[in-house]
Amino acid sequence: MKVIAFNGSGRKDGNTAILLKVVLGELSNEGIETELIQLAGKSPQGCIACYKCFENKDQKCAVSTDSLNEYLAKMIEADGILLGSPVYFTDATAGIKALIERCGMVSAANGGLFKRKVGAAVAAVRRAGAVRTFDTLNHLFQHGQMFIVGSTYWNVGIGRDPGQVKEDAEGIRTMQNLGKNMAWLLKKIHD
Ligand SMILES: Cc1cc2nc3c(=O)[nH]c(=O)nc-3n(C[C@H](O)[C@H](O)[C@H](O)COP(=O)(O)O)c2cc1C
Repeated sequence: MKVIAFNGSGRKDGNTAILLKVVLGELSNEGIETELIQLAGKSPQGCIACYKCFENKDQKCAVSTDSLNEYLAKMIEADGILLGSPVYFTDATAGIKALIERCGMVSAANGGLFKRKVGAAVAAVRRAGAVRTFDTLNHLFQHGQMFIVGSTYWNVGIGRDPGQVKEDAEGIRTMQNLGKNMAWLLKKIHD
């Protein structure tokens, strides 16, 4: 079993990466394979609304000038998808939104490529917009007929500068519980 995680932050190894790694650590402890892709410097562009994916039905985006299809193939192969984003202007980043737009569209064009996979979202925030960001990230899972995993709070960690999120004890605990719950559900589904 494998979980693929994406960090939508414009900077690598910041607070969102720390939160994602806590979740992935719990999954690894349960024997689940994990991979983290950080979009910083390699974010895909948004959907151009060509609708060619509905004509081609080849599980690929027709725009092949960036790494989107590589990311999409990893999502199709995985049993679980973890999306992480810092809050930018009270919402998810443009990079992770582009991933959602294009992967969501190709999935729909091909009959639901993520159907019955397990999904979870996490957000890093300085002050405001975390729940809205969390909601934005969850749209991919809800639209894609996926099972969304809960934790002991909304999956949010508080911090501004890289590393500050580690001081948010409740946020870290929330990520640990999320990882445990995700592992539990994956094992139930694949028993
Ligand atoms: C362009 C930009 C916009 C931001 N907008 C918000 C915001 O609306 N609300 C907020 O609480 N923090 C905002 N922040 C702060 C980040 O969410 C916060 O520093 C977060 O921990 C960054 O995560 P990272 O280290 O993974 O990049 C913004 C940061 C940037 C760079």
